[in-house]
Amino acid sequence: MDLEIVELGPDQRPAVVELCGRALDLPEDAAEAPAIVDALWARAATHRPVLAWGAYREGRLVGALVGSLADGGDARGHVDLVAVAPEQRRQGVGRALLAVAEAWFAGLGAVEVLLAGNPPYYAWPGIDVRYTPAVCAATALGYTRDRTAWNMTADLSYDGSPALRTTAPAEERLAARGVTVRRAEPADLPALTEFARATFGGAWDAELAGSVGREGAGCHLAERDGEVLGFAAYGSSRPSWFGPMGTAPAAEGSGIGGVLLRRCLRDQRAAGVTAAQIGWVGPVPFYSGSAGARIERVFFLYRRTLEA
Ligand SMILES: CC(C)(COP(=O)(O)OP(=O)(O)OC[C@H]1O[C@@H](n2cnc3c(N)ncnc32)[C@H](O)[C@@H]1OP(=O)(O)O)[C@@H](O)C(=O)NCCC(=O)NCCS
Repeated sequence: MDLEIVELGPDQRPAVVELCGRALDLPEDAAEAPAIVDALWARAATHRPVLAWGAYREGRLVGALVGSLADGGDARGHVDLVAVAPEQRRQGVGRALLAVAEAWFAGLGAVEVLLAGNPPYYAWPGIDVRYTPAVCAATALGYTRDRTAWNMTADLSYDGSPALRTTAPAEERLAARGVTVRRAEPADLPALTEFARATFGGAWDAELAGSVGREGAGCHLAERDGEVLGFAAYGSSRPSWFGPMGTAPAAEGSGIGGVLLRRCLRDQRAAGVTAAQIGWVGPVPFYSGSAGARIERVFFLYRRTLEA
């Protein structure tokens, strides 16, 4: 049966969401398929080249791939999402989709392709090791594993969870030192962005914009005399994911980070999230101590050099 690979337009979004809901084998990913597809495809396209392809057999969508070019013009292509319908696997659909994406990247001058998240719009740092067919396919298709990344899980499923511990005493201590902690509003975005850029570099603008005041997302900040001392955000690409966060180096150790983290986790729980993913960490002892989080999802990142 002939396989046809075509570029997808916004009209195909419902079909791609439906396919991902079936083809993402891990339930936590399948459940968030609509948010994942929107973040990687429509929202990412607002600030970098993004393209999606569909694989069709007899007029039915059987596979999809979303690819994007790395920010900063450093000649790298990213495969953000690839999914093939369960009943269509091992018939070359994934191979054909990757070949088309690689050709597009090469045409844009990319010298390398990564099977890895392309922040700030990413759904996974790399391939979750439990997507074992994808791990096998990456190797078979000439990709080399180069890094490992992991998320931490904060359990929000029961009242006594350390992730839901009260922040009141710590907030009182901070207040006595002139530090206010509150929810960030859209009017705070310029100051937050400026703080994040000046303190940690420029990588978090889009994640802040995708968190503050957006449905299913949010952000909390700490300030003293109108000066931002720290922030924590969640939900920018996926409702269950927490991050990024950052505390000014001068304010580290004052308890600001733990308060900001647990305020976000409390919001996520109120929105119905039972297990928050702290994405692509980071300071393991901090998240373990502040929220009882544990390392759970592990991802392999892959790369392949394109032939000139
Ligand atoms: C990963 C995935 C996209 C592969 O799609 P596919 O259409 O089945 O892949 P192909 O048929 O093109 O396979 C290409 C090669 O990969 C390897 N491969 C793929 N699946 C494999 C498996 N289950 N076991 C061993 N090798 C496998 C094989 O070498 C295969 O070539 P071969 O069949 O000629 O031996 C598909 O399994 C999938 O949708 N998985 C769930 C979603 C996912 O994991 N996405 C990526 C993570 S974000």
